[in-house]
Amino acid sequence: MSAVRVRPARLEEAAILAEMANDLNDHVGIHGRPFTAERVRTDGFGAPAAFTPLVADLDGAVAGYAFFTLGYNTDIAARAMWLHDIFVKPAARGRGVGRALMAAVAAETLRLGGRSLEWGVHSANAGALEFYRRLGAAGGEARIMGLAGERLRALASGARSDSAAS
Ligand SMILES: CC(C)(COP(=O)(O)OP(=O)(O)OC[C@H]1O[C@@H](n2cnc3c(N)ncnc32)[C@H](O)[C@@H]1OP(=O)(O)O)[C@@H](O)C(=O)NCCC(=O)NCCS
Repeated sequence: MSAVRVRPARLEEAAILAEMANDLNDHVGIHGRPFTAERVRTDGFGAPAAFTPLVADLDGAVAGYAFFTLGYNTDIAARAMWLHDIFVKPAARGRGVGRALMAAVAAETLRLGGRSLEWGVHSANAGALEFYRRLGAAGGEARIMGLAGERLRALASGARSDSAAS
């Protein structure tokens, strides 16, 4: 019988985390492979870290990961965990690794005083949608929007200096 174990990722696993995070981006059609080991070391293990990395071992080998950050949900006026990424290597899927990762993130959410666990999912990612439904998740029609690069700089350039965050 296979054994799944979820644990905090180790700094020396930055390269494998970067590879899996890039594979997840590719899976959802975001190409460019922006993650590097250095980026994971800085953003996942730096002080302060931008996200927490968990790893799942299956029969002693790394089989998947999750990245998450505690934030806030103003709909319920409470701390909420934001799941950035969850990924299981293709060969390890369907053996409970994803569920074990989600259970660990849920437990960490409650431990830190969070009242909800949230994430975004591409509407075309049918497998992930079914996976989340099996865990009991419900989703609305909210869309995640964003600004980056030149468009972000263009908007920021209109900020008045007396209204900028200090
Ligand atoms: C989605 C993903 C994390 C699921 O991981 P997994 O280890 O295969 O999932 P589990 O084996 O723990 O499955 C948990 C439950 O979800 C169901 N499930 C998982 N993947 C499924 C799929 N593609 N279609 C239908 N059901 C699925 C399982 O049957 C199981 O149901 P049960 O508990 O009722 O028996 C994995 O398929 C993956 O990494 N996908 C690519 C990356 C991705 O899309 N990530 C999500 C980005 S939003």
